[in-house]
Amino acid sequence: MRKMKTILVTGGYGFIGTNFIKFMFEEIKFSGRIINLDSITYAGNPFNLKDIEEKYNAEYIAVNASINDLEILEEIFTKYEIDTIVHFAAESHVDRSINGPAEFIRTNILGTFSLLETARNCWKTYENKLFHHISTDEVYGSLGKEGLFKETTPYDPRSPYSASKASSDHLVKAYFHTYGLPVTISNCSNNYGPYQFPEKVIPLMITNLLNKKPLPVYGDGTNIRDWLHVKDHCSAIYKIITEGKTGETYNIGGEHEESNINLIHQLCHAMASIKDNDEEEYLKLITFVKDRQGHDKRYAIDCSKIKTELGWNSSISFENGINETIRWYIKNQDWLNNIINGNYKNWIKLNYEKR
Ligand code: NAD
Ligand code: TYD
Repeated sequence: MRKMKTILVTGGYGFIGTNFIKFMFEEIKFSGRIINLDSITYAGNPFNLKDIEEKYNAEYIAVNASINDLEILEEIFTKYEIDTIVHFAAESHVDRSINGPAEFIRTNILGTFSLLETARNCWKTYENKLFHHISTDEVYGSLGKEGLFKETTPYDPRSPYSASKASSDHLVKAYFHTYGLPVTISNCSNNYGPYQFPEKVIPLMITNLLNKKPLPVYGDGTNIRDWLHVKDHCSAIYKIITEGKTGETYNIGGEHEESNINLIHQLCHAMASIKDNDEEEYLKLITFVKDRQGHDKRYAIDCSKIKTELGWNSSISFENGINETIRWYIKNQDWLNNIINGNYKNWIKLNYEKR
C-alpha cells in the first residue's frame, strides 16, 4: 500500500473534493497534510470545509488560487513535499459548457496541463509519487440501449465539457508514456450526495421540490444515467491512490441506471414520505422542457476492473443514498438558500479574499 504524507487536492471546495477531504480526515483518519488548491469559482464554497479548517488546522491548508497559476503551483511544490495529487478542479456542468465553453478549455485542459508540467518539473524523483486525475464516463460518448463503457472503450466525447475532460485525460496519459510521470486516471459515472451544487439534476430537483417550483425535465426524460453516491466515489479514489497501478485507468460506477423521469418520480416519492406530504402535489410539478443540445442518451459503466483488481465495491444502495441525500438538503437548507440567493458569495468575499 502506498504511503502518503502530503496530498495536493485541487478543487477541494467543490462537491466531490469537499466530500473527499472530509472522507480522508474523518473516515480514513489520514494523519498527513492536505493542501486544498481552489480558485473559488461559483461552484467552490469554502463554507463546506469550515469544520475541517477548525478541527484540523495543522493538517489542512487552503490556498485560494487557480491551477493555471504556474507561480503559485511552483510555490506549493517548493514549500510542501507533495507526494500525491488528487486533481478534481474543473468546470463540471454540461449545460454551462454548451453556453460558454471557453472556461472549460482554460481550466480543464490548460489547468491540467499546468499541473502536469509542475509535477514533471518540480518532483526531483518520481519514487512514491502519484498524480491521480479525476475524470468522467462522459469521455466515452453516448450509449444505445445495450452495452457498458469499459476502460478500453474508444473516446467519443460529444459536449464541450466531455471534450475538455477527454483532452485532459489524453494529456495525463501522454505524460505517463512520454516522461514516465506516475499517473492514474479514474472515469466515474454521475455522483450524488451532500454538498452538490444545485445546478446538477438531483440537488436541483430537491431544491425545487422544497420550494414547490417546477421540475424541468429535458426532452422526454428517457435519457439514462448511472448513479453513484459520492462517498463510494471517494472510497474508490482512495483505493486507487493507495493500491492502483500507475499508468492505469479505472472506471467507477454505481451499477444503478435510472432514466431521468424515473429518477424524478423517485425523488417525488421519497420527498413525500420524508415530509409526510401528498406525492401527487410533487408529481404535478414535473414540467417537460426543451431538450439539451446534443443530449447524450445513456451512460453506463462496467466497473469490474476496479472490483476485481483492487477489491473495491460500492456500499450505499441508491434508495438509502437518495433518502439520506434528501434529508441532508432539508437539514442544510441554510447552505442551499445561501447559494440560491447568492449570499454565499458575500460570505466568501468577507472571509476568503485572495491571500
Ligand atoms: P464542482 O463543479 O462541484 O467543483 C469544482 C471545484 O473546482 C470548485 O471548488 C471550483 O472552485 C474549483 N475550480 C474550478 N476551476 C478552478 C481553477 N481554475 N483552479 C482551481 N480550482 C478551480 O465539481 P465536482 O462535481 O466536484 O467534480 C469534481 C471533478 O470530478 C471534476 O473534475 C469532474 O469532471 C469530475 N467528475 C464529476 C462527476 C459528478 O457527477 N459531479 C462525475 C464524474 C467525474
Ligand atoms: P446533470 O446533473 O447536468 O449531469 P450530466 O449532464 O453530467 O449527466 O444532468 C443529469 C441528467 O439530467 C441529464 O440527462 C440531463 C438531465 N437534466 C434534466 O432533465 N433537467 C435539468 O434541469 C438538469 C440540470 C438535468
